[in-house]
Amino acid sequence: MSDLCKISFAAPAAPSGGVAVVFVDASLKLAAASAALLGGVEALIARAAPTLNFKGKSASAMEIAAPHGIAADRLVVIGTGDGKGSEPADYVTLGGLVMGKIGTAAQAHVLFDLPHPPASVAEASADLMLGMKMRNYKFDLYKTKKKDDEVKPGKQDIVIGTTDAAGARKAAKSRDAVAEGVVIARNLVNEPPNVLTPVEFAKRAAEVEKLGVVVEILDEKAMAKLGMRALLGVGQGSELESRVVIMRWNGAKDPVAQPIAFVGKGVTFDTGGISIKGAAGMEDMKGDMGGAACVTGLMHALAARKAKVNVIGAIGLVENMPDGNAQRPGDIVKSMSGQTIEIINTDAEGRLVLADVVWHVQTKFKPQFVVDLATLTGAILVALAQEHAGLFSNNDALSENLAKAGIATGEKVWRMPMGPAYDKMIDSKFADMKNTGGRHGGSITAAHFIKRFVGDTPWAHLDIAGTAMGSTASEINQSWGSGWGVRLLDRLVADSYEG
Ligand code: BES
Ligand code: MN
Ligand code: ZN
Repeated sequence: MSDLCKISFAAPAAPSGGVAVVFVDASLKLAAASAALLGGVEALIARAAPTLNFKGKSASAMEIAAPHGIAADRLVVIGTGDGKGSEPADYVTLGGLVMGKIGTAAQAHVLFDLPHPPASVAEASADLMLGMKMRNYKFDLYKTKKKDDEVKPGKQDIVIGTTDAAGARKAAKSRDAVAEGVVIARNLVNEPPNVLTPVEFAKRAAEVEKLGVVVEILDEKAMAKLGMRALLGVGQGSELESRVVIMRWNGAKDPVAQPIAFVGKGVTFDTGGISIKGAAGMEDMKGDMGGAACVTGLMHALAARKAKVNVIGAIGLVENMPDGNAQRPGDIVKSMSGQTIEIINTDAEGRLVLADVVWHVQTKFKPQFVVDLATLTGAILVALAQEHAGLFSNNDALSENLAKAGIATGEKVWRMPMGPAYDKMIDSKFADMKNTGGRHGGSITAAHFIKRFVGDTPWAHLDIAGTAMGSTASEINQSWGSGWGVRLLDRLVADSYEG
């Protein structure tokens, strides 16, 4: 598992060894106070820049080894351009860039004194730290041979020098909670499916109990009693038992205030079942629990920063396997809602899991809204690639709040159409509905399937098949499992539902 590196805040200071990081504008000037601290640094930068073709552009960097007259082994110069239009997400990304340059150095001082100061130095410094921590994450639990030059993240001595160190420390508390949540989600997605079984996942999710979250685990007997036959049908071909975990965080002033709810698909491995998938890339289906991983990481983040809101986090954990007892195409199952489902394709299993968990959450807790997250369809990758998660909703206000949080965090969503004509595509000859609507509009008919279990509750479904895993490396994520959604939903809660 990856530990988070430790990063502390202090007043800006001249470096004393290791890596020094400074920021310049498009004219290659530092903030005046920093230039004074590092006498001669601007002349050094002006001399090195042309040969390295460094122009101080935003998000560009240049490195000078053994910088003359500066007590550092390496000077990293980061360009900030004209500094205009910087959003919080930009400081997080900047932190990722900075950490990428620091690498595994044992010691680093980041002179975070920008030529164009941000609106809030404290907030920007904390955002920088969040980006640094996210970049620093690495999943190497199963590598038995470590490289000699590797420095353990916890052993690095990294200081952010900022003119508001006290403010930054305060602002960093909530960022730390979120960073931990992201790490939890990434670890869960990266874990192999022989280790992270439904029962093991439930055990790990239950660790949020130590933060004051109330955790209830439903075993198969409890689920059968509730009538969760849609979910149980998916797990019946697996040797492994299914679980549902319900996490409750009561942070609102009014303990009985109506909660908000998040539901995650947690298929710990998806072979497709009897409608078995092809062999190529099937190993990626260990990440088919990205929705559940996000909900688990989110509950950690919200509880760790003591969010002032009542929240339900519910995850459905199953393994989808083919065997003699597996569900067949043609089977008809009765969901907890009483509605019957004809199974057309056993590989459309996520919606069957969500149907029962969403129904249970919606009827038992009567939440203000339900947001579900699921690595639900390959079709969403066809539509949106890995740039946006698909957003499907019956509620404009909730959709707009999600879109805003997406822009603020860089975890972007794109609203997709819904409507009666699409809904009709999942009507069945033999049952109330069927579990696939054909190839066309596959992500939309999948969303309509879930919608049949939400009643009148404001609801949004995020199809994260493209964003939860296998993303190309970015400044803030180098890991296969991205932890996508933890920052988005933390922001959604903070900006729109806490009070
Ligand atoms: N877990 C998959 C969707 C998926 C695909 C996630 C690629 C991540 C990357 C889901 O259970 C699935 O198999 N969906 C089918 C639905 C079809 C049978 C209607 C799909 O997308 O092909
Ligand atoms: Mn599937
Ligand atoms: Zn799946």
